[in-house]
Amino acid sequence: MNKMEKNNSNLTNRKFYIHTFGCQMNENDSEHIAGILASAGAELSYSAEESDIIIINTCAVREKSVEKFYSLLGRLACFKKKKNIIIGVIGCVSQLYRSKILDKNPHVDFIIGPDNYWKMPQIFSRLSSEKVISTQWNHKWHEIPCTQSLRKSHYSAYVTIMEGCNNFCTYCVVPFTRGREKCRPIQNILREMRYLSEKGYKEIYLLGQDVNSYVAPDSGETFCDLLKKADKIEEIGWIRFISSHPKYFTPEIAIVISEGNNICHQIHLPVQSGSSSILRKMNRGYTRDEYLEKIDVIHKLIPDVALSTDIIVGFPEETEEDFNETLSLLKTVRYTNIFSFRYSPRPLTAASKIRDSVPLREKRGRLVELQTFQRNLQLEINKSFIGKSMKVLCLGKSKKDPNIYSGRNEGNQVVNFKSKKDVRGKFIDVSITGYGPYSLQGKLNDIT
Ligand code: SAH
Ligand code: SF4
Ligand code: F3S
Repeated sequence: MNKMEKNNSNLTNRKFYIHTFGCQMNENDSEHIAGILASAGAELSYSAEESDIIIINTCAVREKSVEKFYSLLGRLACFKKKKNIIIGVIGCVSQLYRSKILDKNPHVDFIIGPDNYWKMPQIFSRLSSEKVISTQWNHKWHEIPCTQSLRKSHYSAYVTIMEGCNNFCTYCVVPFTRGREKCRPIQNILREMRYLSEKGYKEIYLLGQDVNSYVAPDSGETFCDLLKKADKIEEIGWIRFISSHPKYFTPEIAIVISEGNNICHQIHLPVQSGSSSILRKMNRGYTRDEYLEKIDVIHKLIPDVALSTDIIVGFPEETEEDFNETLSLLKTVRYTNIFSFRYSPRPLTAASKIRDSVPLREKRGRLVELQTFQRNLQLEINKSFIGKSMKVLCLGKSKKDPNIYSGRNEGNQVVNFKSKKDVRGKFIDVSITGYGPYSLQGKLNDIT
């Protein structure tokens, strides 16, 4: 940015606070935005009360996340009466509802969709005379310099490789908030990864709504090509990726993972339902058997793989039998972790037009049953780790007890352990001595 833009953007010496809802991509976007605003002269603050710019990065994936956003925005209206602040709404709800957000919330000053964050300094320079809505789509990837980003963690980083989705699962609003698939040039991804490894980052998550449909816009290289090149970058300990779509998950990807040096033997492969009839109504593009065949291939090629998934219960017309098929799929696959949700009808989606025969009470009951079922499976799986030692990346420290540290193993499970030394950002060797359904406890052996 040149000096003129910097001075005209009204950002110098202003304090800003960002509240982020939603997925890792939103977290990563907020880190980029913090970097853009800091480069334009503003200062990142972790206190909303002390800030004069408050930005809410929103998520539209379920009704609850939108409700939480509107409730926060409502509280900010009172705050704005006491203090002259700028309020901005960005992210997926902005893209979905655009100017409609202003109808009931005149205290909002700007609305920016995910494709327009790079314009922020120019947008700020217009705010003294008008409210700004910036939600246009751009077909080309717009690079935000990785050196600018203000990342929360010093050890684990997100790197976006693609954005948007062409799959149109019938329940999902994301194709309407993030637009069509757009892939980032491969050399920019690798440059960011090299930069992060030089900065001492130990773990990188490659991010995208559907990472395995990645095709480099310049060279045509595939997700497998990208993984192979990323794996050659020295000093990065672990590479992970989320989310991959089962429809495009080929044996070749599993081979690249198994032959790689740094690619974690961990795959998040959202199944959504164990019933082929529901999968068809969801437009997922695979049957239960096809999904299970892919899991078989993955197990053969990567015997020590840790699998996780996303599940939706109570999709319109889901019967008790359909639901039982989901439970039986969980039992067959034995995921180490799942993210489960009650179906939430979303605007513009095909499923929101289907008559929903499943009562709310039933949906709630199924979610509790599914989570209890998986909790017991995880207890069983985690018990089998007792006495084993494993590599863990230490990511943080307990706020309550300064001797307790927390990290993740290669399978992305939480591992807590005691240490007298500060081992944050280090790979360590831990022997597992205890377990719960959602984490393991261990004893520190060695720093690797
Ligand atoms: N792109 C990712 C998912 C992004 S949304 C993928 O395809 O895997 C994250 C998860 O939210 C989804 O996997 C799904 O389980 C859940 N989800 C999406 N829309 C939903 C809805 N309308 N109701 C409930 N859960 C939903
Ligand atoms: Fe949504 Fe389906 Fe695309 Fe994932 S693959 S973002 S669930 S439409
Ligand atoms: Fe939510 Fe948008 Fe992510 S809808 S899940 S923040 S892509």
